[in-house]
Amino acid sequence: MIKLAPSILSANFGRLEEEIRKISEAGCDYIHIDVMDGAFVPNITIGPIVIKAIRKCTDKIFDVHLMIADPIRYIDDFINSGADLLTVHYEGEKHLHRLVTSIKEKGVKVGVAINPGTPCNAIEPILPILDLVLIMSVNPGFGGQSFIEASLDRIKEMKDLIEKTESNCVIQVDGGITLDNVEQVVEAGADVIVAGSSIFGSPDVRDSIQAFKKY
Ligand code: DX5
Ligand code: ZN
Repeated sequence: MIKLAPSILSANFGRLEEEIRKISEAGCDYIHIDVMDGAFVPNITIGPIVIKAIRKCTDKIFDVHLMIADPIRYIDDFINSGADLLTVHYEGEKHLHRLVTSIKEKGVKVGVAINPGTPCNAIEPILPILDLVLIMSVNPGFGGQSFIEASLDRIKEMKDLIEKTESNCVIQVDGGITLDNVEQVVEAGADVIVAGSSIFGSPDVRDSIQAFKKY
């Protein structure tokens, strides 16, 4: 069964605590938190202060997706705010191995994200030391975009690379996932599904989470 990581980017930020309690009680596995800095991506969202404030709402895994330039500067701040898993972008870091190693040494789990234009094998050398690979199925920056179909082949390709390198990391897929395409994404090899607008935009968040959890 897949793990579900609702992205709070599409939640009502005026009632964030309530929204997080609702998705936790409905049985989500992770809380996916999209951090954007207006530099790595055009949009600006939230930072460690807000993450710290919402940490008290739930015991679920805080899955922090860092879409920021030069992330090494903020790793300690995000860990101190309560992140359990930090995912950094391949495209945002020149010294990826060093960044990943230093996050692991601090005792939290680490993921690496790749944008739709980045070849899967770009991260092959570091697969054995990762906990998670995040395949972006939209270009990062905004919720509510359409799923890029070519992502399905990329998920399969990444699965093969994970086997080849004998890595234990899981595959997370993020962007444009709905109840209409989730089955294909899971069949391709996804272990963790991120869904933002399709959960928070649905008439009943609880029903939507339950429906996703069937896959
Ligand atoms: C996009 C973010 C996603 C996004 C997903 O940059 O990383 O997590 O919020 O939202 P939906 O599911 O609406 O595409
Ligand atoms: Zn994300």
